[in-house]
Amino acid sequence: MFVCMCYGVTDKDIRHAVQNEGAGNIRELRKQLDLGSQCGKCIHMAQQIIDATIIDE
Ligand code: FES
Repeated sequence: MFVCMCYGVTDKDIRHAVQNEGAGNIRELRKQLDLGSQCGKCIHMAQQIIDATIIDE
């Protein structure tokens, strides 16, 4: 599923960044993936996916 429509970032991309690259928050995630800097609508959902992935680990 696409989380960030502006940059074409999926929930899978975000989970991968958290699990394999150690992204623990939006700021760290954005070092690895372009998202959130156009309209910003995806930020809330991206944070939820980060939180859910960390809890699952
Ligand atoms: Fe992510 Fe617009 S949907 S910046």
